[in-house]
Amino acid sequence: MNRTRRIELIIGFVAAVAILIGLGMAIVGEPARIATAEDEILATQIDDATAIYAEQCSVCHGIEGEGIGSTPPLDSEALSTTDSDTLFKTIARGRFDTAMPAWSLAEGGVLSDYQVSELVALVQNGDWSTVADRVVNLGYAPLVPFTAEPDPEIFSEIGLLPDGESLQRAVTTYAAECVACHGADGLGTTLAPALNDPVVRAQTPDEIARTIDLGVSGTLMAGWDGTLDEATIDDLVTLISRWDEVPDGAVPAPDVPIPTTEESIALGESLYQANCATCHGVDGQGTGRIPALNVESFLLDTPDVAIEQIVTLGVAGTPMPAWGDRMTEAEIQAIVGYIRAWEPTAPAVATPAPRGGPPWMQADQLVLDESEPTDWRAVTLIALLLVASSAFVAIGLSTFRRRSKE
Ligand code: HEC
Ligand code: HEC
Ligand code: HEC
Repeated sequence: MNRTRRIELIIGFVAAVAILIGLGMAIVGEPARIATAEDEILATQIDDATAIYAEQCSVCHGIEGEGIGSTPPLDSEALSTTDSDTLFKTIARGRFDTAMPAWSLAEGGVLSDYQVSELVALVQNGDWSTVADRVVNLGYAPLVPFTAEPDPEIFSEIGLLPDGESLQRAVTTYAAECVACHGADGLGTTLAPALNDPVVRAQTPDEIARTIDLGVSGTLMAGWDGTLDEATIDDLVTLISRWDEVPDGAVPAPDVPIPTTEESIALGESLYQANCATCHGVDGQGTGRIPALNVESFLLDTPDVAIEQIVTLGVAGTPMPAWGDRMTEAEIQAIVGYIRAWEPTAPAVATPAPRGGPPWMQADQLVLDESEPTDWRAVTLIALLLVASSAFVAIGLSTFRRRSKE
C-alpha cells in the first residue's frame, strides 16, 4: 500500500469516527434536550400565570396564595394534586353563587383557555414565595387589608342619623366585605371605583341593588346574592345612596405597610435618586426650603398609604409634582418602600443639603446583562462536523491529485 493511500485511509477513519461520535452525542442528548425544552415551556407558563395571578387573583387569594378571610388558599397540598381538568373547570367557570368569578372568555371572563391552563400549571407546580415577590414587584399587593375596623366614635354618630341602625350595619358589612376593593370611606382604589360618589348616588336604589346582587361579569365585582342576605344588601344600598351624610373617617384607611422585596427597594432607590434627590436630597435630608423625608417626625407620622398618595397626587400650588401620570403604581410603591427603609436610622432633626446635588451623586442608569450562556454541546457538534468535512475534502483532493498523476 503506498503512502498516500495509507494517509487517505487514516483521514477517512478520523472522519468516520467524528461523525459517529457526533451522531452518538446527538442521540444521547436528545431526551435531555426534550426534557429541558419541556421545563422551559413549563417555566414560561408559570411565569405568565404569575403575572396573571398578581393582577387578577391576589386580591382575593392573597399575595402568595395563602387565602384571605373566607377565600380559600391556593397553595394547598390538596389543590396541587387535584387533576388538571377539575382545576381548569373551577377557574374557567368560577363557583356559582360564590365570590369566585368565571374567568374564561367563553364564560364571560377575561382570560383565554391557554391562560387558564397556565394558571392550572401554577397551582400545580408553582413556587408561591416567587409569586409573592412578583405580586409586590408588579405593585398589586393589596394595600388595604381585606377587612377594616370602623371608627368607634364616628360609628356611634352614624347611629343618630335617620335610619341609623341600617347605616351602622352597612358600615360593618362594608368594612368586612367591600373595603379591600372600594377603599376607605368608599373612595375607591386602583382595583375598584368609588361608591361614595355623586354619580353612583344618582342611580336608583334598585339599580345599585342589582349590581350588588349580580355583580359585573368579567370584572372583580362578584355577585353577592349568594353570600349576603337580602336585608344586608338593602342596608348596603342605603349606605351607598346616602354616603354623603356619613361623616368622613367612618371606615378609615388602615396603616398597612407596603410590602417590599430586595428588588423593589433597589428599584425605589434608583427612581428616587433619578427623580427626587435633586429636591429632597440624596439621603432624603431635604434641600433649601424643600422638606426632609429622612427625619423621624415625617416617617413616624405618615403611613405608607399616605406617602403613596402624596407622591401620586403631588402637592398642588407647590413645586412638588404629581408623579401618578409619570410612574406606575408599582414604581411609586417601590419609592415609598425605599423611603420607609430610612425609618430605623432617621435623625430627629434633618440637616438640609445644598440644593441640587452634583451630577456624580445621581444614580447611574441600570445596565442589564442579557448575554446568553454558551451552549457547549452545540459548539462540540459543530467542531466534529468541521473535522469530518475537512477530512472528506482532504481525501477528495488527495484522490484527485493521485488520479491526475496516473
Ligand atoms: C373576587 C374574589 C376572587 C377572585 C378575584 C378570585 N377568586 Fe378564586 N375563589 C374565590 C372564592 C370565594 C372561592 C371559594 C368558592 C367556594 O366557596 O367554593 C374561590 C375558589 C377558587 C378555587 C378552588 C379552591 C378550592 O379549594 O377548591 C380556585 C382553584 C381558584 N379560586 C382560583 C382562582 C384564580 C386562578 C383566580 C384568578 C384568575 C381567582 N381564583 C380569582 C374568590 C376569588
Ligand atoms: C374584589 C374586588 C371587589 C369587591 C370585594 C367588591 N367590589 Fe364592587 N366593584 C368592583 C369593581 C371592579 C367594580 C366595577 C365594575 C365595572 O367595571 O363596572 C365594582 C362595582 C361596584 C358597584 C357599581 C359602581 C358604579 O360605578 O355603578 C357597586 C354598587 C359595588 N361595586 C358595590 C360593592 C359592594 C356593596 C361590595 C361589598 C359587599 C363590593 N362592591 C365588593 C370590585 C369589587
Ligand atoms: C421640584 C422639586 C421636587 C421634586 C423633584 C420632588 N419633590 Fe417632593 N416635595 C417638594 C416640595 C416643595 C414639597 C413640600 C410641599 C408642601 O409645601 O406641602 C414636597 C413634599 C413631598 C412630600 C411630603 C413631605 C411632607 O413633609 O409632608 C413627599 C412624601 C415627597 N415630596 C416625595 C417626593 C418624591 C418621592 C419625589 C420623587 C418621585 C419628589 N417628592 C420629588 C418638591 C419636590
